[in-house]
Amino acid sequence: MKDALAQDQDLAILLQKIERRGLMVSSYREPCLLRRLAVRMRARGVHTFGDYAVLLDRVPEEFDLLLDALTINVTRFFRNPETYTVLRQRVVPELAALKGPVAVWSAGSATGEEAYSLAILFAEARGTARIRIDASDLDPTALSIAEKAEYKERALEDVPADLRSTYFTGGSQPRVADAARRLVRTVRHDLTKDPAPAPPYHLIVCRNVVIYFDRPMQERLFQTFVDALVPGGVLLLGKVETLVGPARERLKLEDPRERIYRRPA
Ligand SMILES: C[S@@+](CC[C@H](N)C(=O)[O-])C[C@H]1O[C@@H](n2cnc3c(N)ncnc32)[C@H](O)[C@@H]1O
Repeated sequence: MKDALAQDQDLAILLQKIERRGLMVSSYREPCLLRRLAVRMRARGVHTFGDYAVLLDRVPEEFDLLLDALTINVTRFFRNPETYTVLRQRVVPELAALKGPVAVWSAGSATGEEAYSLAILFAEARGTARIRIDASDLDPTALSIAEKAEYKERALEDVPADLRSTYFTGGSQPRVADAARRLVRTVRHDLTKDPAPAPPYHLIVCRNVVIYFDRPMQERLFQTFVDALVPGGVLLLGKVETLVGPARERLKLEDPRERIYRRPA
């Protein structure tokens, strides 16, 4: 059996190889990364990082499978309904009342449920004129599902009943209705290295994504978000995520429970 140092070196070489293919794994939290790598190694029946690096060269489709394993796409419409209640009652009506165009960024949007939930709230609050919602993700497979906008019934369980009937069509395979679908534009985007897709934004929603990243990456990303917000714009994080680093001085915590922050006007 290889000693621990050799294993560490093999891991470092493997991570460099993955980074050369474009995924910035060095910004991901290590325990999270190792757990997911182990899943793929088990699936391929290899036991060392060195063997897995060789396999990545030999079996090109393994890189896509690894990417899938590293980017867990779990999501649903109106995830954490109490957060969407606050969005629906306070945040969206205020932004929807603005005179000019409104821009929203759902960052790490996975298969699109988050972006469409936001689109539904904006469509309710101001119709569909001059609203753009950028749904970005690293994972192209997730984005192609978002583009289709067709979902399983169970992804809709938290959709408020009044919105369910207006904004979804079809039976067992419900599809987001045109009125909300038209507002959303999907963007392939890596939060660890790409600039914000099309700033400035009035609302940035980034939930259940930064938990994957190490602290320096989180701090950098939060600065990117603040820079991309208009003065008075809002940042929403996931329920277990907290703003860290210099961005804390630049945003006001508006709702601690729902993790809503605002850039001072
Ligand atoms: C758990 S899902 C969160 C989906 C949605 N925001 C929600 O809260 O329901 C995490 C998403 O982050 C994406 N992700 C992971 N690393 C990323 C990166 N470096 N750049 C962009 N998206 C990333 C994954 O592909 C995945 O779709």
